[in-house]
Order: sequence, then C-alpha cells, then structure tokens
Amino acid sequence: MNEEQRLNSSQVKEINPQNKEGKDYSQYFQSVYVPPNLKEAKKRGKEQVEYQHDFGIEPEFANMGIGRKFYIRTYGCQMNEHDTEVMAGIFMGLGYEPTNTVAEANVVLLNTCAIRENAENKVFGELGHLKLLKRNNPDVLIGVCGCMSQEESVVNKILKTYDQVDMIFGTHNIHRLPNILHEAYLSKEMVIEVWSKEGDVIENLPKVRRGEIKAWVNIMYGCDKFCTYCIVPYTRGKERSRRPQDIIQEVRHLAAQGYKEITLLGQNVNAYGKDLDDSSYRLGNLMDDLRLIDIERIRFTTSHPRDFDDHLISVLAKRGNLVEHVHLPVQSGSTSMLKLMARKYSREQYLELVQKIKYAIPNVALTTDIIVGFPNETEEQFEETMSLYREVGFEMAYTYIYSPRDGTPAAKMEDNVPMEVKKDRLQRLNNLVNQFALEAMERYNGEVVEVLVEGESKKNPDVLAGYTRTSKLVNFVGPKDIIGKRVLIKINQTKTWSLYGELIEVLSGQEVGVI
Ligand code: SAH
Ligand code: SF4
Ligand code: F3S
Repeated sequence: MNEEQRLNSSQVKEINPQNKEGKDYSQYFQSVYVPPNLKEAKKRGKEQVEYQHDFGIEPEFANMGIGRKFYIRTYGCQMNEHDTEVMAGIFMGLGYEPTNTVAEANVVLLNTCAIRENAENKVFGELGHLKLLKRNNPDVLIGVCGCMSQEESVVNKILKTYDQVDMIFGTHNIHRLPNILHEAYLSKEMVIEVWSKEGDVIENLPKVRRGEIKAWVNIMYGCDKFCTYCIVPYTRGKERSRRPQDIIQEVRHLAAQGYKEITLLGQNVNAYGKDLDDSSYRLGNLMDDLRLIDIERIRFTTSHPRDFDDHLISVLAKRGNLVEHVHLPVQSGSTSMLKLMARKYSREQYLELVQKIKYAIPNVALTTDIIVGFPNETEEQFEETMSLYREVGFEMAYTYIYSPRDGTPAAKMEDNVPMEVKKDRLQRLNNLVNQFALEAMERYNGEVVEVLVEGESKKNPDVLAGYTRTSKLVNFVGPKDIIGKRVLIKINQTKTWSLYGELIEVLSGQEVGVI
C-alpha cells in the first residue's frame, strides 16, 4: 500500500461498528467508503511498487462462505476474466461454493467493463434485473467490481438509483474481497472501497481457472499510454510489471499441471519491463525465456505498436511454442487521426512495423482493433483506415464506433460527425473485415493445420473444436479422448469464422512447424 492509499483508507465513514450481538468489529472497518476519483487515478508517481507474497485468508474469515454460494458475471476483456478467476479463488478459500445460477447464489458479483457506453449500459440493465432478486431474497449480497467501479459517475449513479447494491470495490481492491464481504454482511449501508491509485503487486492470490487446457497469465498491470479516447489508464492504474521469475515460475507450474496454452496478459504488453530494476529485460527477453518451457503454445495480448521492438520480432521468429499470430491494434489508418488519438505512431510507422513482422514471420496472422467515428473524422481519413486494412491484409478485426468516456481528453472534443455516418462507416468497414476474413480462411482449403483440441463444438456435441496456431476455429469429427491434445487436420470446408476438416494424426510431443 502506498502513502496515498493509506490516506484514502483513513477516510472512514462513520458507521456503527457494533453489530447486533454488541461485539466490536471496528478493527474490520478500516476502509469503508473510499470512493473513486478519476483525477487521482491519472497521476503517475515515482513510488516503487512492492511485490507481496503474503496474501492469506485471515482465520476469522475462514468459514465465512460455508453453506453459501457465489456467482460472478464477467464483462469486458481477458484481464477481467482473469480477475474473476482470482475472485473465484478467494471465494473458494473462504469456503463458498460456485454456482452457475443467479437465483441460487448468496453473493452475486458483476465484474464490469467501462470501455464503451454500451458495455456500461449492459451492467445497469443487469442491475435492474437484480432488484427483483434482492426483493425476493433480501439476504443475497450484490456487488459491483471491475473497471466501472473506478468511475465516480458510476458510483454516484449506483448510490442514487440502485440501492439493491451492497458493495462496490475497485480493480485495485480485489485482494480485499474477504474484508469487503465481511463488512457488507455487518453493515446496513453500501460498502464502497475503491482505491484510485494502484497498490502493490500481490503475487500469491489464489485462482480457480476456468479451463484445463488454456490459462491466462498476467505479466503486467495498468497502462501509461493515455490514448485520448481510453478509460483504461484511469481504471487500471500505472504500468506495473510482474518480475520475470514470478511469471516464469507460474508458467512452469501451469505446464506441470497439464495446461497446453498460455496467454500472457497486459493492457500494453510491449511496455513489459520498462518499470523493472533491470529495465533492459523486456517482452522479447521474457518470451525467449518462456519459449524454453515445455508447454505447447504461448500467446500474448495486447500489443501496442509503439513499443514493439526488433528483439521481440526476432524472438517470435524462432516459433516453436511461440505462435504466429500477432494482434496489433491500429485504431486508424490516418496519421492525423492517430495524432489526435495520441497513439504515438504514424500510418507509415505502423506499416513499416507490419513489414518487419511479415518478413521475419512469413505466414503470420495479423489482427487488429479499429475505432471509427472518432471526433471530426473525415471521409478521407476513414478511407485511409480502409486502405490500410487492405494493405496489411488483416485476417480479423474488432471494430468499434467511438464512445466518449467521461474524464478522457477526447470526451471534451467537439464532434461534427453524425451517428448515421459513423454507423455507415462501421458497416462498410465490417464488410471489408468479413471479406478479408473469408479470403484468409479460403487459403486454408486443402491444407493440413495443427489444432489444439479444446472440446466439443458449442453447436454440436458430436463434433470437436479447437484452434490453429493462428487462432482459427476448426471443427472436425474425432474421438473425445483427444481433447487437450494437438492434432493435424486436413481442411476441406471454409466459412468466414470457422474451418471444417478431417482428422489426420494425433501429435504426441513437441513436434512443431505446421501452421
Ligand atoms: N490495451 C489495448 C486496448 C484495450 S481496449 C490496446 O491498446 O490494444 C480494446 C479496444 O477497445 C481498443 O483497442 C479500442 O479499439 C477500443 N476502445 C477503447 N476505448 C474506446 C472508446 N472510447 N470508444 C470505442 N472504442 C474504444
Ligand atoms: Fe487504452 Fe491506449 Fe492503453 Fe490500450 S494502450 S489500454 S487503447 S490507453
Ligand atoms: Fe473493459 Fe477494463 Fe478491460 S474497461 S476492456 S474490463 S481493462
């Protein structure tokens, strides 16, 4: 905990520390009512991050969850999905059992995303539904966590209109879940604990991972890029890298447990290591070390083009368990637009980087994120995005209409682009995305690809499904005992978002090289 947080934590709202039995619980009310503050979240101090390995469930909380069930609904990115795995780990440590049914739950958490307005609206809609649940079962605890809780406007809105909510806690307060739950059980008021400034890196938080084949591994937290449209640097704090030895140990452990694929996570993984004591150790070095671990596949997300260095490219070119898929958000193909977005690269620099990657990794799959309708985007600027898309030949893209986020610089910009124009641009872009996706898939026709078998197809339990190294969904018929293995599939049918083929061979060891 840094000084700022300690100060924040001392803003204790006076609530009665005596519970119904007259016991004094004041020691637990150390941090009730710490509201968020986006201005605080923007500050980037020089204070050193501490690495803690001493997380534990306090004995007085150990039986809190016995006979109780928890349900977590997750919105947003992989970072949030992974935070949910950590919270599930903490719940299980407290004795709670998981449930997939909201109606059965004693605690319901919404792990929220603030990236766009529609992401937030979904959460408010869900909170509306939960009112009924709370009415029927007043003992159920309802909590809001994740990125939305870091916003003052959201917390104020919940305080005003959603009194069915019992607790709100922030992205930096996840490890405090036992204390927050405890307070929520005792308090009649909404428990709010949102540290606006990031805390230490806590290494030994428990996790209940959702899958047994693929696992997420955080390599860094936060973002210092401050793209002008984006709320993430405010909701996730400053960049903090985990230490290489902690990451390597986690990946080794996952490999030993039988996991086959690891995705390294960070908002801006290419900035990995900049904040470490030995700042010459960067993502390329980490990948080069992880490459030697006996695990089938290693991916990473998300890359910022600005920090994607030559060393990383040369390490990725070694392939092996480093797959040939790079997700490289471009956002716009117009240099002037990129400048307004504060992306810190030009169209030309992006294209140059793409050339380098393609040269070093010949059949690399490139995918991207694009925002259309940024304030005052002209038709010409939009066309530059379309032409860049064709020039790179992306295989897939996540496309979004710009959504103003309170507190970000872009939200203050005047905007002369009508919504119908933005929607039309999105439609045109999506048509291009679909066309290129289909073309990329058609290139696989007749090819033999390596697929990591993940399980039964969602649509048909008689069909198995898995992904290629380039992240293409492949369906095929095969025996269930090959789930979790890598296989070779000959593709004989292609659609825009999936491939279909026949099983040729089940791979045993580390033989690689087939895309
Ligand atoms: N750290 C990642 C981005 C995470 S957010 C990166 O920089 O690549 C995922 C995507 O959401 C972004 O790449 C961007 O395309 C989109 N996005 C972020 N803020 C947005 C906003 N205000 N409106 C619309 N799209 C947004
Ligand atoms: Fe947002 Fe930019 Fe950071 Fe990505 S790099 S999280 S888009 S500020
Ligand atoms: Fe959303 Fe927060 Fe991720 S805003 S995209 S959940 S970092």
